[in-house]
Amino acid sequence: MRLLITNIKALCQLSDRKRIAGSDMQAIPCQENAWLLAEDGLIHSFGKMENMPEMYADEYYDASGRYVLPSWCDSHTHLVFASSREQEFVDRIRGLSYEEIARRGGGILNSAQRLNATSEDELYEQSLRRLHEVMAQGTGAIEIKSGYGLNTEAELKMLRVIRRLKENAPVAIKASFLAAHAYPIDYKENKEAYIKLIIDEMLPKVADEGLADYMDVFCEKGFFEVAETERLLEAGWKYGLKPKIHANQLHYSGGVQAGVKHNAVSVDHLECVGDAEIAALKGSNTMATLLPAAAFFLGIQYQPARKIIDAGLPVCLASDYNPGSCPSGNVPLLLTIACTQLKMTPEEAINAITINGAAAMELENDMGTIEKGKTANLIITRKITSLAYIPYDFGNNPVEKCILKGKIA
Ligand code: NIG
Ligand code: FE
Repeated sequence: MRLLITNIKALCQLSDRKRIAGSDMQAIPCQENAWLLAEDGLIHSFGKMENMPEMYADEYYDASGRYVLPSWCDSHTHLVFASSREQEFVDRIRGLSYEEIARRGGGILNSAQRLNATSEDELYEQSLRRLHEVMAQGTGAIEIKSGYGLNTEAELKMLRVIRRLKENAPVAIKASFLAAHAYPIDYKENKEAYIKLIIDEMLPKVADEGLADYMDVFCEKGFFEVAETERLLEAGWKYGLKPKIHANQLHYSGGVQAGVKHNAVSVDHLECVGDAEIAALKGSNTMATLLPAAAFFLGIQYQPARKIIDAGLPVCLASDYNPGSCPSGNVPLLLTIACTQLKMTPEEAINAITINGAAAMELENDMGTIEKGKTANLIITRKITSLAYIPYDFGNNPVEKCILKGKIA
């Protein structure tokens, strides 16, 4: 199957770099007036229109006036969940905080109760619908977490749903095991027993079925403290699960340093980042992943993206799609928030959600830039005037067509 896209206004993110850091994030290398050929799901070749060889294809697409870029790589989501939580949204408007709602048994525990009452098939159908929604907004690779089960059976149920999505959807999917998301009510007075349950019962089963790529922990005061996080990460490593953790959302908790110490692929959230966190990230391979749409929706402080980029570090953006702190996986809207609130330039934001997002899922050799041999997961925009128009035109979908595995989706 060959798909030939011609007359592309600009073919963007032409690069063989595996992650982009610091001031290099300012640039998106583009070729104007270009063509691209996808063959059997991969990027076969591309070039300038004036030098296009004569070619046969099964399908042709005239992209006059349109930009083509790699699909978004959304490296942090909780897309598998059982139902919405708008009552908590209203409670927050009336003055309750996210932490207060969690202490009262809402939040993650609320989602866990609903997920436990939902069948695997129903969960799969709901999640597939959400996946199709974000695909239509340009997402072509996505990480999805467990963490609303909070017992062995329901955590496995969530991970099996993610596996079914992996098997059936044309996007790349990575799974993270996040049983350490909150303490279930029955374990409130015996936290040690829940940690033991995760390490001694859940992890071996998850590993045995090969259900997860990563180990995640909500490292936060009042959730899993640093010492507990470190034990869980060490246990995950024994089964080959690399860490990708929630850190420093609500406090300067030491979570970033713990993630770096345990060679985390990424540390995510990062509302609370000071000099010690920056120093820890420097010299490490751990990606700093910012989730500003969650900060937007909770009305909490934003992540200091400028400080991190200006320190020469790479920054990744991800949606955090989940029913509590960010009930949206809309990446174009996330880009607008990153630009207006974090003061990232459109180029920095696009680097953060393409190649750096791929790196945060260890997909940098297969996704995130336009390179021969990479998977042909691409966005063809509507007719737009520039790349900056994507975050500028907020609330609207810049995507005209998604190409997934070399096919118009
Ligand atoms: O990434 N911070 C922890 N976990 C999720 C929210 C989970 C929820 O509220 O359901 C997050 O924001
Ligand atoms: Fe999250």
